[in-house]
Amino acid sequence: MLETGDPRVVRTWSRAARTGGRRVGFVPTMGFLHEGHLRLVDVAHSHANAVAMSIFVNPLQFGPTEDFARYLRDIPRDRTMALERGVECLFVPEGKDIYRREAVVRVSPGSLAGHLCGPFRPGHFEGVLTVVAKLFHIVEPDVAVFGRKDAQQAALVRRMVADLDFPVEIVVVPTVREADGLALSSRNAGLSADERRSALALSRGLDAAHEAFRRGERDGTAIVNAVAGVVRKEPAANVEYIEAVDPETLGPVAAVSEATLVALAVRVGKTRLIDNVILGQGLAGDERLGERG
Ligand code: PAJ
Repeated sequence: MLETGDPRVVRTWSRAARTGGRRVGFVPTMGFLHEGHLRLVDVAHSHANAVAMSIFVNPLQFGPTEDFARYLRDIPRDRTMALERGVECLFVPEGKDIYRREAVVRVSPGSLAGHLCGPFRPGHFEGVLTVVAKLFHIVEPDVAVFGRKDAQQAALVRRMVADLDFPVEIVVVPTVREADGLALSSRNAGLSADERRSALALSRGLDAAHEAFRRGERDGTAIVNAVAGVVRKEPAANVEYIEAVDPETLGPVAAVSEATLVALAVRVGKTRLIDNVILGQGLAGDERLGERG
């Protein structure tokens, strides 16, 4: 496995792979890897024959009061996991490798950041799109893989690629969950045992939305209330938002359908957790650990 923090080395690797007739797949991450990230690598392998991963905790996407400094980092462990899963090029830049001191130009997410996490994390998606655009220019992948766990991010990356003509295919992978339903996240490691129990309110709430939909409920507000009814029973869970939205525009829908995305953000202690489900699929549309062959 090639490991480097130098963007020029990554681009040289990528161009050589393509010259050799291979398709380059790319999985951008912030590290502290878990099985969710590694599933993205597996899927990248099914769409490409040379897979690169980046690990970069991007300061631009964290607000001044957010957890940039506390974000968990463990490169030696990540390196082993990436190698075992067949990552061929591991890009581990430092801040100075990515951002020129003079840089002022950013990628603006437009109206798609007006919903869900956007209003609660001003500047977040601008930071995400800016770094993803830069990573795409450095890695020059044929295909890049993202998780539906961060559904708004995935939708925004798709829109950036379409609106700004990036020559890359975007693949979005269902959320990987623990056996009890908790969506895998690097931030779960910061939960105490009690907080982890409280965090199950997110997936339980989304399951209630799916159940209500299955029983015939089609009213957006009623679906949101079904989630809220479950989550608010958990005293340690502080709801930031619960919304039923169109999966592409991310705007709220009055009448829900199979494709409607139900998403929520909840604070448990110091940890901010997000999760979502596609109404017609429910949690069964996602992957559970311990249930794969
Ligand atoms: P990070 O939170 O490390 O996530 C990297 C990728 O892993 C994202 O595409 C995310 O959606 C996916 N992922 C995380 N948890 C998952 C799960 N349980 N199941 C499936 N996929 C999961 O997202 C970021 O980093 C950053 O914003 C980044 C895109 C790297 C830009 O800085």
